[in-house]
Amino acid sequence: MNLKSIYVMGLCVVLLSACQKDEDSQVNLIDQELEQVLKDASGGTGKGFYVLPYSNEFDKIPHDPRNIITQAKIDLGALLFHETGIGLSPKHSSNIGNYSCATCHFASAGFQAGRHQGISDGGIGFGINGEGRQLNPEYDLSELDVQPVRTPSALNIAYQEAILWNGQFGAVGVNAGTEASWTVGTPKAKNYLGYQGTETQAIAGQDVHRLRMNDTVCVKPQLSPAF
Ligand code: HEC
Repeated sequence: MNLKSIYVMGLCVVLLSACQKDEDSQVNLIDQELEQVLKDASGGTGKGFYVLPYSNEFDKIPHDPRNIITQAKIDLGALLFHETGIGLSPKHSSNIGNYSCATCHFASAGFQAGRHQGISDGGIGFGINGEGRQLNPEYDLSELDVQPVRTPSALNIAYQEAILWNGQFGAVGVNAGTEASWTVGTPKAKNYLGYQGTETQAIAGQDVHRLRMNDTVCVKPQLSPAF
């Protein structure tokens, strides 16, 4: 290797490391800016504001004072969320007991549906992670329980004040005073019960998703002790 090429190679190394430094300081600047924005938005608490409590620190998890969180309710709720026995109001009786909240929101899909559009009543099959759920040939498209948007995650919903993309569920907080939009005869009228968003969504979801509780379900061996 002659002197000239050694000189050129050396120059390249210097230039490249200078670029790297520039990039590093750019990244540092962005980090600092982001950190500042987060601090400003934390209402004076600092970064600690964004640390979620552990799932057993019930008093630190936002909840409706009319529905205090207890371990017993969590255990029962986890069962009911997955309970196909409350799939009692399908459009076709052959589909009784074939769906639940978890048909569209299940853990291994991050509590989403595992496909672009969740299908509850009117769907058939599941696949490995929801991708195999299809239209039940017995159903007309207009009879399906599907929503016009992708199923979002139901995870950490306690931290969301108004529920659904349009924020329609929840009677308090940002939704206080929006009674004019709580149209009677639609799921939104459940806001008149006065609960926060999470409760209102779960109550309205029973009708929307064709679920129903009855005494037979309550006395199921796995459920009755939980009740
Ligand atoms: C047919 C599929 C389907 C079923 C069954 C279903 N969901 Fe959903 N869920 C959705 C879709 C789609 C949305 C978003 C709707 C919107 O924002 O307009 C949603 C929204 C939600 C949200 C709010 C998420 C957010 O970010 O606002 C929660 C919480 C939730 N569902 C819980 C439940 C519970 C509890 C049940 C059972 C009672 C249930 N879901 C049954 C599809 C479903």
